Amino acid sequence: MTVNLTPLSDLFGAEATGVDLSGPVSEDDASAMRDALRDRLVLVIRDQNLEPKQYVESMRIFGDPMRQHLSKLLMPEHPEIAVLDSRIANTKRDDGKVMPIGSRDWHTDHTNHAKPPKMTVLYAVKLPSKGGDTGFANMQAAYASLDESEQAELIKMKTVNSIEQDVGYVDDKARKEFGAAQIHPFIRTHPETGKKAIYVHPGKLARFEGWEPAESKAFVNKLLDRVLTRDVTYRHKWRPGDLVVWDNRALLHVAHTDYDPSEGRILHRMCLEGDVPV
Ligand SMILES: [Fe+2]
Repeated sequence: MTVNLTPLSDLFGAEATGVDLSGPVSEDDASAMRDALRDRLVLVIRDQNLEPKQYVESMRIFGDPMRQHLSKLLMPEHPEIAVLDSRIANTKRDDGKVMPIGSRDWHTDHTNHAKPPKMTVLYAVKLPSKGGDTGFANMQAAYASLDESEQAELIKMKTVNSIEQDVGYVDDKARKEFGAAQIHPFIRTHPETGKKAIYVHPGKLARFEGWEPAESKAFVNKLLDRVLTRDVTYRHKWRPGDLVVWDNRALLHVAHTDYDPSEGRILHRMCLEGDVPV
């Protein structure tokens, strides 16, 4: 085995060095990285230099590539990869406001799918001179921090999710295909570890089942404000060659926008097939 694995914070996150994903990876290394990801939820694999084809192939270590609904950002020859380039801004449909890619609040990915991706992967192709970190929050720990009576209330709730109306990088065809509302448990149970986590994409949350949209959004914002403490978060400072895989079933993430988008921050994104959340 060549891979070295070290924790990135007390609670979660691991760093992998000594592995090269551009060629075959030994079964020992692959299984050590899968275990690290299961136990630590974020895996930062350092010092990679990958062609798109090698990137797509290597991620089969963790799962099967999933089609993404960011239809306008997909790489034509490798549609498993979405290119997130900070120099491409999107114009909002109604008010004309420009919204750079990645400027989202804390969320898990693609909850508008019946089977949202179990994992998302970002590979750093170009980084700004400063800023642009990605934040991760351990929502299993966040859930565990609540008292039992509150957990019992949350566990009954279901989210109704639909694709945002205000993003320009989804075309009408994709909007039609992925536009149907999906209902998911607000608290989901991890299929491998059995741990429970708060599971939500506030931007895609239309409402809780049986609730009004406004009260649903207010409830989520208030809850996240309370549970997203420093104790449950890790902030990743990107280095060139970083490839970061994380578990969407257990974490929320956020793109920090404290950088100059004109410098060009380019990340290649993949999503890996997941199950129906339970
Ligand atoms: Fe995301």
